[in-house]
Amino acid sequence: MSQDTAYQEAFRREKKARQAAEQLLEDKSRELFKLNNELLNTNNKLKEQQSLMLRNEKLATLGTLSAGIAHEINNPLAFVLSNMESLRHYIHSYNALLQLSLQWQNQQSLPSAESDQLQRLLDEQDLVFIQEDTKELFTDTEEGLIRLREIVQNLRHFSHSQDSERAKADLVAGLNSTLKILQSELNDRITVNCMIDPLPLADCNPGELNQVFLNLLINAKQALEKTQNPQIFISATSQNDEIIIRIKDNGCGMDEQTCKKVFDPFFTTKPVGQGTGMGLSIVYGIITDHKGVISVTSAQGKGTCFEIRLPVSGTS
Ligand SMILES: Nc1ncnc2c1ncn2[C@@H]1O[C@H](COP(=O)(O)OP(=O)(O)OP(=O)(O)O)[C@@H](O)[C@H]1O
Ligand SMILES: [Mg+2]
Repeated sequence: MSQDTAYQEAFRREKKARQAAEQLLEDKSRELFKLNNELLNTNNKLKEQQSLMLRNEKLATLGTLSAGIAHEINNPLAFVLSNMESLRHYIHSYNALLQLSLQWQNQQSLPSAESDQLQRLLDEQDLVFIQEDTKELFTDTEEGLIRLREIVQNLRHFSHSQDSERAKADLVAGLNSTLKILQSELNDRITVNCMIDPLPLADCNPGELNQVFLNLLINAKQALEKTQNPQIFISATSQNDEIIIRIKDNGCGMDEQTCKKVFDPFFTTKPVGQGTGMGLSIVYGIITDHKGVISVTSAQGKGTCFEIRLPVSGTS
């Protein structure tokens, strides 16, 4: 072999070995990149699971707390409401007495000393004003108590301490009837897009699930108040013994901090007096009571999607 040929052979061998090494390096880098991506994904999933677990734990604690508070408030509330009823009757009797006194006074049918005495009492105690004001005080107090009773009922719902009657029901019918109830409120401005597959009958409390749909749709409507071309997308489908319902809007959306708190009882971003902040807590309570899962994804200024996953059997 001439020196040239030997040199060429060595060069060829070296080039082949270099190419093989380069290929190996590229393959390994690719593999490493893929593994790194998998690791990142797993890490993200773990973080998501962890925050979901924390959220569920927090809500479970709040549920226990709410059940206790609801129970504690419920007992005194029951007797206050019942006492109010009795007081209304008593006041009615006193009013009759006052009316009669006024009538006698007007007809001047009392001896003058007694009439003067009665007039002094009427003036000093401002009894005519008290009679008028009592009516208003009673109405306001009763309204307040009824509101309180609603809050207690909501808290009990959130902590799923209410008996929930189960039946086989078609959730499509529930969704449609809820949409009908809201039709007049939604249809004038908001476009509702439905992609609803036929669903297997679910073992559930249909009334409670209708309340879930109603609360989610009302929230979506409220989030769309300032949106141009406002839209709600409702989809329902079933996969492997699971029903998946999504209610999505292209409304104001939420930042990450808000998103984390939406299921907390009494969390609201609405002005005082406009929302109790119990809507989504009730939704959460009902869905977990049905062994389901609810999650939310949202982007500020873009919209929000609530996803509900319910087991068809209701007991899994
Ligand atoms: N679709 C949505 N888009 C944007 N924000 C939402 C949406 N749904 C809920 N939220 C946010 O979550 C908060 C809590 O909602 P939730 O239904 O529990 O109470 P609320 O609507 O404020 O009061 P209530 O339901 O008692 O009238 C809302 O105040 C709002 O900030
Ligand atoms: Mg609400």
